[in-house]
Amino acid sequence: MLDLKIELSANRKAKPADETKLGFGKIFTDHMFVMDYDQENGWHDAKIVPFGPVPMSPAMTCLHYSQEVFEGMKAYRAPDGSIKLFRPEENFKRLNVSCDRICIPQFDEAFALHALVELLKIDADWVPHTDGASLYIRPFIIGTEDALGAHASTTYKFFIIMSPSGAYYATGLNPVKIYVETKYVRAVQGGTGFAKTGGNYAASLKAQDVAEEEGYSQVLWLDGVEHKYVSEVGAMNVFFVLGDEVVTPELDGSILAGITRKSVVELLKSWGYRVSERRLSIDELVKAYQDGKLKEAFGTGTAAVISPIGELKYKDLVMEINHNEIGELSQKLYDNLTGIQWGKLPDPFGWSYDVK
Ligand code: PLP
Ligand code: COI
Repeated sequence: MLDLKIELSANRKAKPADETKLGFGKIFTDHMFVMDYDQENGWHDAKIVPFGPVPMSPAMTCLHYSQEVFEGMKAYRAPDGSIKLFRPEENFKRLNVSCDRICIPQFDEAFALHALVELLKIDADWVPHTDGASLYIRPFIIGTEDALGAHASTTYKFFIIMSPSGAYYATGLNPVKIYVETKYVRAVQGGTGFAKTGGNYAASLKAQDVAEEEGYSQVLWLDGVEHKYVSEVGAMNVFFVLGDEVVTPELDGSILAGITRKSVVELLKSWGYRVSERRLSIDELVKAYQDGKLKEAFGTGTAAVISPIGELKYKDLVMEINHNEIGELSQKLYDNLTGIQWGKLPDPFGWSYDVK
């Protein structure tokens, strides 16, 4: 395994005074992880250093052609004071899948997890102690070559930065309003939808802006070819309870393979629910709503956790779901998932990872 150098900060910042008012991703811990890549040495010079600005050339590839990939994960404070991660191996595995799509060289997943654990041990005091707050972790890799030709960079930097954060939506677990996007598209099969890369989010900003202007939290994307099949929401995968079936769109290459999504499917199956990963058209969804079969809808994601959807707007039709209240299944999933993540419930699946 690579060597990990450590340079501790001489100027520790004050911790946030009120952990109920953290917001999301606005405050950063004292340290960060950085590692370099070049063709001669591969990944090398791995180190933990004080969090701060990095020298940057205005010519570097990531700034011009979005050669960037990232992950989102969280560290949780358990009741006994220890720190837990949730399925962290899955995040580093997915980061390498994203790297492959964006022509970024593969890295050693076990080493990345080791580096994260060391970083967490150094900044352990930054993991919030307040209910609902956690330490959001953002690993990311950027192309750093000075080159304006549109080709893959020959040099890269891998970072991990961390931010004590509260709920992603200001509404917390209360239902969100989602707008079904009919004009813009996020991804197509053969594109980069399954990769967690900055460009996907740049492509989604316009629709997000329009939705927010109309009072909606995020958009529900439809497929990029026919505008017919339900895909995912801005920062989460999506589930619908249709009668006695729980449906989530299948992973067709245009959708991010969410780790929360995968965990929710496994939880639901273990409870005996009929879960389908399949194509779901917006017409089927509207029909289910009109027939009274659309019982609940919710999004899943690391930042968003379980987010009940109380209102879905498609063209002129405003669908109120479950009287705009937190559904029974959404609540049960939220309680069980967060229970495992925070170490408050038994972990029969072995998803929790102890930082020690
Ligand atoms: N879909 C998109 C576009 C996302 O940004 C996220 C968040 O990472 C998800 C889905 C949910 O993925 P996960 O559950 O792994 O956080
Ligand atoms: C996540 O990490 O859950 C994200 O969705 C990333 C970001 C868009 C908040």
